[in-house]
Amino acid sequence: MSHAHIRTEKCTHIRIYKSLISSQFRDPIQHTHARTEGIANIFFFFFLAVTRMEADGVKNWVLVVTAQTPTNIAVIKYWGKRDESLILPINDSISVTLDPAHLCTTTSVAVSPSFTHDRMWLNGKEISLSGGRFQNCLRELRFRANDVEDDDNGIKITKKDWDKMHVHIVSYNNFPTAAGLASSAAGLACLVFSLAKLMNVKEDHSKLSAIARQGSGSACRSLYGGFVKWVMGKEENGSDSIAVQLADEKHWDDLVIVIAVVSSSQKETSSTSGMRDTVETSALIEHRAKVVVPKRIIQMEEAIKNRDFPAFAALTCADSNQFHAVALDTCPPIFYMNDTSHRIISCVEKWNRFEGTFQVAYTFDAGPNAVLISRDRKTAALLLQRLLFYFPPQSETDLNSYVIGDKTILRDAGIQEVKDSETLAPPPEINANTPAHRYKGDISYFICTGPGRGPVVLTDENQSLIDPKTGLPK
Ligand code: DP6
Repeated sequence: MSHAHIRTEKCTHIRIYKSLISSQFRDPIQHTHARTEGIANIFFFFFLAVTRMEADGVKNWVLVVTAQTPTNIAVIKYWGKRDESLILPINDSISVTLDPAHLCTTTSVAVSPSFTHDRMWLNGKEISLSGGRFQNCLRELRFRANDVEDDDNGIKITKKDWDKMHVHIVSYNNFPTAAGLASSAAGLACLVFSLAKLMNVKEDHSKLSAIARQGSGSACRSLYGGFVKWVMGKEENGSDSIAVQLADEKHWDDLVIVIAVVSSSQKETSSTSGMRDTVETSALIEHRAKVVVPKRIIQMEEAIKNRDFPAFAALTCADSNQFHAVALDTCPPIFYMNDTSHRIISCVEKWNRFEGTFQVAYTFDAGPNAVLISRDRKTAALLLQRLLFYFPPQSETDLNSYVIGDKTILRDAGIQEVKDSETLAPPPEINANTPAHRYKGDISYFICTGPGRGPVVLTDENQSLIDPKTGLPK
């Protein structure tokens, strides 16, 4: 038997669950269910797809949970660890969570007595779970797992059983993996969040963030929507190195974010090894972590609180540039940006200077893709006009696949077809005497998005990535 629950609930905080659970008690049909099966079962009634199979008198079942988790872009960067295995950073960082409608990871996790070992599939390919980071997350979650009971389906997993039970994890990103778009952040956050739900882990999001952190540092910030700070903490065991929400996504929803995907290929130096080399060899990193970032964190929190765009943009650009400066100060030097990235910076800098105040902020992670944050929709349309002027699509490209995500920005920019981008006038900040260069084909595509919400459990079985009969990827 398999249940389909067509509901998606916000799970930014465990308390929201509790209120949803109590609202279910008002439903007479589910009320009966509640009385007979107790709170634990009601909890699972919300989001578990259960398949029970009884063959040859042997009871078997597959329990599935599916969740969706956003990615995030740091505006004050994390770069450098003080503890490699616990993943403890050398400075605080702050990020904006991106709208999962356009960039997210979906993960289904399942448990069944028939599973013989832990397995994971990422974007359609089976990958090994033997790495220390996965193992640390799984161990931390199993340690905090609780009883799961569902009499109807003959399911009873006790707290102790979780040590012996195996899980299947199927994960899918709707954006390029390892292209500098923080795919590991969304991926690890989603793995931890979905397994925590499957295992009935009762810890709140900040505790879960400390587990996700052990999978990938930036993942801890994806446990919340809106504006998030990862507090570096002081404890040696990392218990206070957690994410906290500074403001939710509605606090500053004027912001529009345009991502220029410069290259979808795998990056050359991973963040993990890059930051290790920086800590070991850069003479500048200590000054950044000890002197520059602590001041910027205070200023950035203030800018976010007051929705002060010029301050927010100035700090975001300066911090991105300093992160790339310490990458360059590493031995051997690390170049994450390329010529196209530099051209985007120059376009934004010229425009901001021409206007006399910040219109747009830019930030780049460990790759060449630009994340451009504009102050409002009107500015975002003007930004898109500029981007399409400098980086027009190839003539045969379909505009619908060149600008993806929130298409209303494209409409506001007055661009309906590829030929509209070909006839765009040069922006007014360009000196009329110097011919403007255009770089057709240097950008793969643009994603228009904005600040978004935190993780959610998906209760529509159609969104599950696991076949509840076999426990394998659909
Ligand atoms: C440049 O979180 O990918 O995106 O902790 O080793 O997994 P590990 O590194 P990761 O590093 C992200 C670095 C960054 C800046 C940031 O997101 O703060």
